Amino acid sequence: MKGLGTDVQALVGRGFGSLGGARYVLLQVAQPGAARAWLRSLAVTTLAEAEARRLERVCQLAFTAAGLRALGLPVDDVPGFAPEFLDGMAGDPSRSRRLGDVEESAPEYWRWGSGEAEPHVLLMLLAGEGDIAAWQDAILGAMPPDACTLLRVNDASGPVGREPFGFVDGVSQPEVDWEGTLRPGGAKDRDYRDRIALGEFLLGHGNEYGFVADHPVQRGIGRNGTYLVYRQLMQDVGGFWDWTARIAGRDGAVALAERMVGRGIDGQPLPELAAHGLNGFTFAGDPDGIACPVGAHVRRANPRSGDDPQGRRGFLRDVVSSLGFKGTAIHDAVASARFHRLLRRGRPYGAAPEPLAVIAGEAVAQECGLHFICLNASLARQFEFVQGSWIASPYFGGLSGEQDPLLGNRCPVRSGQVTDAFAWHDGDGNPRLVAGLPRFVTVLGGAYFFLPGIGGLARILEDAP
Ligand code: HEM
Repeated sequence: MKGLGTDVQALVGRGFGSLGGARYVLLQVAQPGAARAWLRSLAVTTLAEAEARRLERVCQLAFTAAGLRALGLPVDDVPGFAPEFLDGMAGDPSRSRRLGDVEESAPEYWRWGSGEAEPHVLLMLLAGEGDIAAWQDAILGAMPPDACTLLRVNDASGPVGREPFGFVDGVSQPEVDWEGTLRPGGAKDRDYRDRIALGEFLLGHGNEYGFVADHPVQRGIGRNGTYLVYRQLMQDVGGFWDWTARIAGRDGAVALAERMVGRGIDGQPLPELAAHGLNGFTFAGDPDGIACPVGAHVRRANPRSGDDPQGRRGFLRDVVSSLGFKGTAIHDAVASARFHRLLRRGRPYGAAPEPLAVIAGEAVAQECGLHFICLNASLARQFEFVQGSWIASPYFGGLSGEQDPLLGNRCPVRSGQVTDAFAWHDGDGNPRLVAGLPRFVTVLGGAYFFLPGIGGLARILEDAP
């Protein structure tokens, strides 16, 4: 959309994978006037700048609800902020339970994100690996002591493109309809599509329902903003490869891990789905998960289903299906994917060893994981739905007793249902089921942020009249 880029923070349109230096600076507001003045002095990068030239430094700013309150913005009285944002990621035990943040992943054990360690401001700095430390020092060195206190700097510097278990990451992203050409609704949406309405990622624009969703309209604070989800996920790389090698043998460990992820370790689709290129496949022809397990990470995170899970089949059969006469329960077991897409912008951290070296017992993994970051216009319908109803749910897709094989916390749910199983078909098509999966991922911190548009940012930081 013409001119839009000047009012949008660059991260909405770009991941900046070529910039290997990344510091996520978490701050708390000390004195609101001083904080606003200092934050105003930062040059926040716009999408228009990123589109115009190759950038060497990118600076982005986002705020928690606690942060907006601390800056003096009465967010609870400004209509339009999402209730999940106002509560915060760690603000409600039932939300934590739904997101799977229990036991070792519970907010009470987090390094940051909860209680006294709740951040107010996320200052995101991206630059070359050789440049990032000096730039961070210069920026924080110029921060007046009465403006903000430094809570934590999360260092996500290093090569981007592989997550610590060793898989190529960042392959599938929704294609954002920046031009606003989509007219959602109607027969064509029975099929899965990758192009997604702008309003699913940017407030103030039409979404997949064809509506402009609620957002803070007062003084344009919400326009062209989005919600940023940030979770620090520690990965037990040693435990992951030890377990896969124990179950499938050293020679079969990678193949089993690929079924758990739902893609090849090199990012390619699983062989049976490879005919449609890197990202053109769906699971419509694989309802029983023989090619890609129903519970695999990518299938839970994006089941690639249209409004009718069986797709378009001609007028008569569509009518029959709409009346509910055709199809089995399992085909209805996942919701349409177009309402639940996420723009992922995370980065790995820590020095992850090579998978084959870990399998061979030649490498010991140090702490590493993912600074998982995603953008969405609706925290409830997008991130929380994907995390709670798909990734963490033991009932996803007609399954029982499983959670995401990478991310599950393996804790039984309230009904007593266990969640530590994984079912797949091996390379010969034989069904396999294993119980007792260990936990491979632990949440170490997290928060919901609002990443405002450039105009909204100016309103947030302006001194009250
Ligand atoms: C340590 C944690 C995680 C690891 C190791 C991981 C790993 C991966 C890998 C290897 C892929 C396949 C490559 C790609 O398409 O980019 C993938 C895809 C994806 N992941 Fe994750 N992921 C993690 C956490 C999460 C979380 C917390 C979410 C959302 C709540 C998520 C959502 C997605 C989505 C939406 C896709 C793309 C699926 C598709 O469109 O095909 N991931 N992830």
